[in-house]
Amino acid sequence: MSERIEKIILAYSGGLDTSVILKWLQEEYGAEVITFTADLGQGENLAIAKDRAEKTGANKIYIEDLKGEFVANYVFPALQAGAVYESKYMLATALGRPLIAKRLVEIAEEEGADAIAHGCTGKGNDQVRFDVTATALNPDIKVLAPVREWSMKSREEEIEYALQHQIPITVTQESPYSTDLNLWGRSIECGVLEDPSVEPPEEIYEMTVSPQAAPNEPAYIEIYFEGGVPVGLNGQEMDGAELIQTLNKIGGSNGVGRVDLVENRLVGIKSREIYECPAATILFAAHKGLEELTLERETLHYKNAMVSPRYAELVYYGLWFHPLREALDAFVKTTQQNVTGRVRMRLYKGACMLVGRESPYSLYDYSLATYDRGDMFDRTAAEGFIKIWGLPLRVAACLCAAKR
Ligand code: ARG
Repeated sequence: MSERIEKIILAYSGGLDTSVILKWLQEEYGAEVITFTADLGQGENLAIAKDRAEKTGANKIYIEDLKGEFVANYVFPALQAGAVYESKYMLATALGRPLIAKRLVEIAEEEGADAIAHGCTGKGNDQVRFDVTATALNPDIKVLAPVREWSMKSREEEIEYALQHQIPITVTQESPYSTDLNLWGRSIECGVLEDPSVEPPEEIYEMTVSPQAAPNEPAYIEIYFEGGVPVGLNGQEMDGAELIQTLNKIGGSNGVGRVDLVENRLVGIKSREIYECPAATILFAAHKGLEELTLERETLHYKNAMVSPRYAELVYYGLWFHPLREALDAFVKTTQQNVTGRVRMRLYKGACMLVGRESPYSLYDYSLATYDRGDMFDRTAAEGFIKIWGLPLRVAACLCAAKR
């Protein structure tokens, strides 16, 4: 280790890995280590993380509630963009990383630190998201990923290291799964899930009940949007984080929001991941339903085909602070002006059905759509339109016929 590093800001969860990293960095670099723990709605007791950071010997401790910023600046823009990776993954983990990395860099600048550090492994997407975000925001900052560098290979070795260094760990029965949780959803991988042919065991789920165990009566909910942003639920105005938490409860108790995906990771491997994302599932469906009503055809098609999947890729690839993401956001913003209105959803045994929508900016025109007596559509214009519309095909067909 040739480089001199004196002060490090560590993304700290309070778990075994990051506790061992805290001590390891102090020993390896002889550096001061400041821990940073963000509350993104993971529902863990942050007092425990604080206590553990203190007892492990952190030189300073930051704990911040970032739920509001997470929802307003990361989750809702992604919702408006329709950002779902490979048509299934609603990007909960992927959206949280750039925010955590941004705060790490900001704290490093305020504290005059030379480096930030995280506990990601060398095989996943999250290391890329932390490292690339840091580079984008401050190209001079060093990013340390001890799990990528050190020689400890197993959990047993880490536990041994913790015991030797008086790190207060609670050695619980080891879960075979690796999980990540925030407001927008929960990611679960490893263990038996690594065989994509195996049905996920019920024990992996925490946010959702199994659809079979869900109530026999459907739950109806009504969501209000303003400019593509959800602002209320069932007749009540609600702030974003609270609305998401409420929808996670209602959706989860009706078995809504389980996703099973074999996804393409950035580092080139396919991996099988299970997601629980009740609120995201409901909100994406509701938002889409309102766009059906309020977006003009070509804009809607373009957004769905070109913008949403690309936006999702950028988020997944760790390129949140990429100029293309900002440019796409500008496109999305102009499409959202009229995405205002009310959507009714029915949740029933794992299914989330849109059953009604209305908007003051609705482009749906009953007098044009109806087959009843009120019909105002000019059918006589249809014939000429069809002739011109089909002209290129007619020309091509005539050429073919002439060649025969
Ligand atoms: N595959 C997801 C992503 O790349 C989740 C990663 C974190 N998952 C986990 N089980 N630790 O965003």
